[in-house]
Amino acid sequence: MILVTGGAGFIGANFVLDWLAHGDEPVLNLDKLTYAGNLHNLDSLKDDARHVFVQGDIGDRALLDRLLAEHQPRAIVNFAAESHVDRSIHGPEDFIQTNVVGTFRLLEAARHYWNALPAAKKEAFRFLHVSTDEVYGTLAPFDPAFTEDNKVEPNSPYSASKAASDHLVRAWHHTYGLPVLTTNCSNNYGSLHFPEKLIPLMIVNALAGKSLPVYGDGMQVRDWLYVRDHCSAIRRVLEAGVVGQTYNVGGWNEKPNIEIVHTICTLLDELRPRADGKKYAEQITHVKDRPGHDRRYAIDARKIERELGWRPAETFESGIRKTVQWYLDNPDWVANVQSGAYREWVARQYEGEKEGAQA
Ligand code: NAD
Ligand code: TYD
Repeated sequence: MILVTGGAGFIGANFVLDWLAHGDEPVLNLDKLTYAGNLHNLDSLKDDARHVFVQGDIGDRALLDRLLAEHQPRAIVNFAAESHVDRSIHGPEDFIQTNVVGTFRLLEAARHYWNALPAAKKEAFRFLHVSTDEVYGTLAPFDPAFTEDNKVEPNSPYSASKAASDHLVRAWHHTYGLPVLTTNCSNNYGSLHFPEKLIPLMIVNALAGKSLPVYGDGMQVRDWLYVRDHCSAIRRVLEAGVVGQTYNVGGWNEKPNIEIVHTICTLLDELRPRADGKKYAEQITHVKDRPGHDRRYAIDARKIERELGWRPAETFESGIRKTVQWYLDNPDWVANVQSGAYREWVARQYEGEKEGAQA
């Protein structure tokens, strides 16, 4: 089996669903269930014995040692992180604890487990660390896109904490020989995306008749990748990536935020027109910019294409249409996440029982 951390969050849950749709190798899913973790994301696996869920912290060394000894995974895929830049600006502490200290503890647990494996299993073991393009900092409008050799120049508490974790992963390979792989991916979008991030926030606010808050001039550029394409990239890197290497993953979809917001408005005008006949774009407002806001990210994803034959399957146009449709089709998921009802459900579900297969 493989151990997935953070598998109840946006990308982690999509990965677990995608993994089990592509094969039968079981997943041990370790997630702390912070505000961003939602077991309803995995409802379709309720009666699936291939999925074992454990609520816990990647910083809990005793728990990690026990889980590794008991389940003997052949790989660890580390998604667990605090992931929201704005939250990192308001409160960086959790980012340091999970992204830096947590990754350190996970690496140490993995190293001790891996050291004790018999030769063949030791050879085959992989630690795949999921990271972000934000570690490279910001680009001027005509700079070439980030390659794997770019200088690491993080600008937010979030990206600094991710860069620190990437460095730890690298060092655990160079110093201890741990067979690691790192992926640095651009902005994801798709189903199960918590509505604090740009794309789901705009969809959900538009439908609720609320304003669509664009930071500053809205001309900041991000490179967008459909989440299931990120999942297929991770599967491919796990399968064929060269130990110790870093792979940039991106969608070849650089777009300014304001264009993204207009695209969402136009799709909603078509799929769920406003009752008053007005356009959703009328809800757009420009608000105060984010402090230290990175102006542009762009990923050069040629290495993963050249060496591992991976390319995204989805265009931005097809992916964003699917995404908007998913939010239209899943108002209960949105209501649940917004009301916090899913957290009460988890508290009830796991009362006195912190661990166990998802019931
Ligand atoms: P998310 O915030 O939606 O989910 C994070 C998950 O990790 C949640 O389920 C949360 O409960 C869990 N978690 C948090 N702290 C934990 C801890 N200490 N122990 C165990 N579990 C913990 O994040 P996401 O958008 O799904 O991102 C997943 C990973 O991918 C992160 O490492 C992030 O840095 C990286 N990444 C994200 C993007 C993106 O666009 N969202 C792009 C590139 C890379
Ligand atoms: P976000 O989804 O938070 O991802 P990241 O900061 O990791 O790239 O934001 C994407 C872009 O959208 C970023 O430039 C900030 C901007 N943004 C807004 O303009 N308004 C918003 O309400 C949010 C959440 C983000």
